[in-house]
Amino acid sequence: MSDAQSIVIAIDGPSASGKSTNARIISAKLGYVYVDTGAMYRTLAWHALNQGTNVTDMAAVEALCREWPAKLVKRENSVWLEVDGYFPEQEIRSSEVSKVVSYVAQVPYVRKWMKERQRSCVDFGDLVMEGRDITSNIFPETPHKFYLDASADERQARRDADGIEENLAARDQRDSTRKTAPLVVADGALVINNSGESPQETSARIIALVENRKLG
Ligand code: CDP
Repeated sequence: MSDAQSIVIAIDGPSASGKSTNARIISAKLGYVYVDTGAMYRTLAWHALNQGTNVTDMAAVEALCREWPAKLVKRENSVWLEVDGYFPEQEIRSSEVSKVVSYVAQVPYVRKWMKERQRSCVDFGDLVMEGRDITSNIFPETPHKFYLDASADERQARRDADGIEENLAARDQRDSTRKTAPLVVADGALVINNSGESPQETSARIIALVENRKLG
């Protein structure tokens, strides 16, 4: 269970659905700690590529994760996984990492490892945590659950505008169909389609809903 003292705003959704942008705005406005769980999976994928691990070999990825000396660190109101004192902030956004991350993320042991650490983030304070299974699996008990979505064309255009070459549909398909903790709309999650909406508008909607629920 989450620390009764901590509020958790949980945000899930497919690639480029606006999770990170909105979660950053919301955490800054409310003074909550921001946790990008995709960055955690990306950091493990980056480590696997560096180590020459075959990312489609689930046993090899599990063995790598079991020996992984990564730890959670809070910097400037965000929580990250550091590897030997280093956070590969730029490297984890590469096309190479994007291509393999959803293989690493389907390994049951990896998800268990991540879940323990993600739940422990309440020790850092009130949270805005975003990913693929936060509403369904990491903090299903929070009343503040959101599922962001946008049209496939708009999401692909957003990623292209970031200058990152990637076929989002293939990764979304793997994330939605994997056996362990797939991307789903969780019970009680509010679906927000933000096609054609600015992050300022979307985040203001979410903050208003959270504040109303806290009052109610
Ligand atoms: O930025 P984008 O939305 O494209 O992806 P991300 O949030 O950085 O997540 C990268 C990948 O990590 C996803 O495609 C999933 O394979 C995996 N992931 C996951 O399985 N569960 C999470 N809670 C977060 C990310």
